[in-house]
Amino acid sequence: MKTIIVTGGAGYIGSHTLIELLQTTDFKIVSIDNYSNSDASTYQRVSQITNKPFDQIDIDLCDKKALNESLNKYPKIDGIIHFAAFKTVPESVTLPVKYYNNNLVSLLNLLDYCKEKNIRHFIFSSSCSVYGNADELPVTEETPLKKAESSYAHTKQIGEEILNYFAPSVPDFKAIILRYFNPVGAHISGLNGELPISKPNNLVPIITQTASGKNNLTVFGNDYNTPDGTCIRDYIHVTDIATAHVKALLYLFESGAPEKLSVFNLGTGKGVSVLEAIKSFEKMSGQQLNYTIGGRRAGDVIAVYANNEKAKTKLKWEPQLTIDDMMLSAWKWQENLNKGLVKLYS
Ligand code: UD1
Repeated sequence: MKTIIVTGGAGYIGSHTLIELLQTTDFKIVSIDNYSNSDASTYQRVSQITNKPFDQIDIDLCDKKALNESLNKYPKIDGIIHFAAFKTVPESVTLPVKYYNNNLVSLLNLLDYCKEKNIRHFIFSSSCSVYGNADELPVTEETPLKKAESSYAHTKQIGEEILNYFAPSVPDFKAIILRYFNPVGAHISGLNGELPISKPNNLVPIITQTASGKNNLTVFGNDYNTPDGTCIRDYIHVTDIATAHVKALLYLFESGAPEKLSVFNLGTGKGVSVLEAIKSFEKMSGQQLNYTIGGRRAGDVIAVYANNEKAKTKLKWEPQLTIDDMMLSAWKWQENLNKGLVKLYS
């Protein structure tokens, strides 16, 4: 049985990927998290959905000694999916050192361990933010990376570069970089979703909280050079992102998978404006949203959406869920939060 390490498994995308791994593979799954932006109760919800066991390690990946000691108890590790990272764009604009330190030291510690133990398969969570303000849309994996608009985006650019130099240094090491567009929505069961540990910064949790009277949505800028003046993003259901990780892992295990390092865009290919996202939410939830129009947010790119042909062809992956599905599932999750059905440990 293969052993797979998932870092950040209690997090938003990590926990949805745990669910898919547990439901569709027979791998032994080990999740590492320090709950810096997640809650250990997420594991209980993953267990409730999957009814499958998995290991949990509670450490900070920046603590190299603790990392090495906790992984040493596994005789053979077949692959690592590395989600754990700080991801709040506006915070990264004001606290860049926090972002460089956490996101890069954790990656370096893991790669060092891969080299020492000859772990040969690695999946890295990257982001469409690495493209910056791209000259042409949709972006393909070959689109030149422009200046990162935030230190968060820069940590992802640097992470990709590190892998670029690291991969050739270890025989048989193969890595996949997955560039997520905007993951949103919640598990179809309504039992797992994005947790409001602190005040959310991302659009969809702010929308669902605003509809619940717990937040106030401001649309950041309506004077961009886009059809309705608001920013355009490629929103993708978190479960579609999760299934892509399982496919990417299986692709790495295929004996024929040739590249030492390959990059895939994970988006739907459809650009959706902030106002269109709001309309979809209102339609699917039946709630009218009160929002105001505000100024532009520092670090935002104007528009970005994916060409996802490469993932479709090579990973045999295709997103299944629409913006309406994303909004409906996010609302179902928020309603469960509102009813107090989700109990946090911290
Ligand atoms: C960014 C990254 C994405 C990364 C994510 C992690 C880009 C292009 N994308 O997403 O890859 O996974 O951070 O957090 O950099 N908005 C409002 N009002 C709000 C909140 C958001 O109008 O209160 C708007 C934003 O201006 C943006 C859109 O909604 O146009 C989406 O914002 P958000 O959900 O925060 O994600 P990104 O910053 O696009």
